[in-house]
Amino acid sequence: MLWLFLILPVISVTSRTIITDNHSSNAISDRIIELVTQGAFRGVTYNRLAALADTIGPRLCGNESLSKAIDWVQSAMIKEGLDNVHVEEVKIPHWVRGEERAHLLQPRFTKLSMLGLGNSIGTGPTGIRAPVLVVRSFDELNLRCAEARNKIVVFNPQCDWKAQPLACYGTVVGYRVGGASSAAKCGAVASLSRSAASRSIDSPHTGVMSYDLTYPKIPAGSLSVEHADMLDRFQQRNQSIEIYLYMEAQTLPDVVGYNLVAEVRGASLPNETVLVSGHLDSWDVGQGAMDDGGGAMISWTVLSLLHSLNVRAKRTIRCVLWSCEEFGGIGAEQYFTAHQSEVPKMSLVMESDLGVFHPQGLQFLGKPQAQQIVESISKQLSSINATQVVSGGGGEDISPWTQRGVPGASLLNDNWDYFAYHHSNGDTMNVLNSTDVDLAAAVWAVYAFSIADLDNLLPR
Ligand SMILES: *[C@@H]1O[C@H](CO)[C@@H](O)[C@H](O)[C@H]1NC(C)=O
Ligand SMILES: *[C@@H]1O[C@H](CO)[C@@H](O)[C@H](O)[C@H]1NC(C)=O
Ligand SMILES: *[C@@H]1O[C@H](CO)[C@@H](O)[C@H](O)[C@H]1NC(C)=O
Ligand SMILES: *[C@@H]1O[C@H](CO)[C@@H](O)[C@H](O)[C@H]1NC(C)=O
Ligand SMILES: *[C@@H]1O[C@H](CO)[C@@H](O)[C@H](O)[C@H]1NC(C)=O
Ligand SMILES: *[C@@H]1O[C@H](CO)[C@@H](O)[C@H](O)[C@H]1NC(C)=O
Ligand SMILES: [Zn+2]
Repeated sequence: MLWLFLILPVISVTSRTIITDNHSSNAISDRIIELVTQGAFRGVTYNRLAALADTIGPRLCGNESLSKAIDWVQSAMIKEGLDNVHVEEVKIPHWVRGEERAHLLQPRFTKLSMLGLGNSIGTGPTGIRAPVLVVRSFDELNLRCAEARNKIVVFNPQCDWKAQPLACYGTVVGYRVGGASSAAKCGAVASLSRSAASRSIDSPHTGVMSYDLTYPKIPAGSLSVEHADMLDRFQQRNQSIEIYLYMEAQTLPDVVGYNLVAEVRGASLPNETVLVSGHLDSWDVGQGAMDDGGGAMISWTVLSLLHSLNVRAKRTIRCVLWSCEEFGGIGAEQYFTAHQSEVPKMSLVMESDLGVFHPQGLQFLGKPQAQQIVESISKQLSSINATQVVSGGGGEDISPWTQRGVPGASLLNDNWDYFAYHHSNGDTMNVLNSTDVDLAAAVWAVYAFSIADLDNLLPR
């Protein structure tokens, strides 16, 4: 993708002295922070992300846009001179949305704000016209199971998103993922679920669903928060509701996909690794800028910063940009299967997939002794006030490693508004702030480098 090189920012490299093992990690952290706040890397990560998001756009698993994104980043990494740049083949699903629409027919005609869910089947060429049953929970559906027969079931779970965004996401996603089969169990003909969104300007949020093969597969979509609530109010007033749903969605045979890997090799312990990562795939709406172009780009920048400074930690720092996270960590699972012999030598696995907003520090998943070490490193981030270390630190793509006891980390950032944009047309560059993306990259790099440069692997 040569034409894309033109839009890549040029990074000037001033010094080529080889700094190896003999340095203070403190001094390197200062250089990293200086580079992103006032040096050659100011704006670099944001501009890379903007080029990706604007020029390639969203990157649905199995779509050619994801392959283009991988080619573009890979070429740029090779040109930059990073170590061991390569792709690793994985098998990924290929779901296509096709055309889709939903109309409210009764009590009045209007277009509904709907997005089909990943993995859903389509409606067939004539669509589905059916009355509606709205339920707020699986329990309510069970009580009213007989009423759901031959209807479109609308799930409208309520939650206090302001108080607990992550907990609400977990609950509401349960309806997105499992709603269709629960409705099918009661004889429903389609299922629509309230978007898993903290707030909305009538924008539906998509995401993956899955079928319980005990029951017939029925089409599944999401509705904007506003439209789910409106249908709920019709039902409360005993007004009969009728919807027309048309979806061409289908799942084609699996295709070959790739995880993209690059490294800054370790100076003295190259076979021991700190892994930094984000996923390059996204949903097919918006630009996939926040989820997870940002996480992928800061992980790439970790290597670019160290390469530009010409420093190597004791251990290898490996950046992996995952394919097909959105359909359930597909690329990462296969990566783990191929690399599980590295579990004993993997010091830390890091994944940024919850935004690259103003960074506050690190979420860490590991033993208290390991967390103490991470806390001692956090002081190196005091100049940018990103010194918090809190428990947490999971991530879909790194979970195979953390489940085997490898310490994990994710970026602690000011992501209170993440679920307003996630998986919707609102996930664009406008959500992100260049200064904050730079700072996020610095936090990511300081931790990756300092932990890779410790005398020992993190205790587990
Ligand atoms: C490493 O640093 C120490 C002190 O900071 C210095 O005495 C030593 O000569 C350095 N070694 C090399 C190979 O540069
Ligand atoms: C990729 O996505 C575009 C836009 O939705 C679509 O037109 C195209 O058919 C998709 N390609 C594949 C291979 O799924
Ligand atoms: C709706 O119908 C139910 C059951 O017939 C009744 O109990 C309820 O009062 C009605 N609600 C309204 C707002 O008419
Ligand atoms: C790293 O692993 C490779 C392949 O297993 C081995 O050949 C090499 O000696 C190892 N290097 C070090 C420094 O342990
Ligand atoms: C530093 O960050 C914390 C949140 O991590 C915030 O509460 C505090 O106000 C910040 N301090 C300054 C001086 O910006
Ligand atoms: C971007 O973030 C920086 C640092 O957090 C802040 O000073 C600046 O005002 C923000 N810019 C916008 C446009 O919000
Ligand atoms: Zn994501």
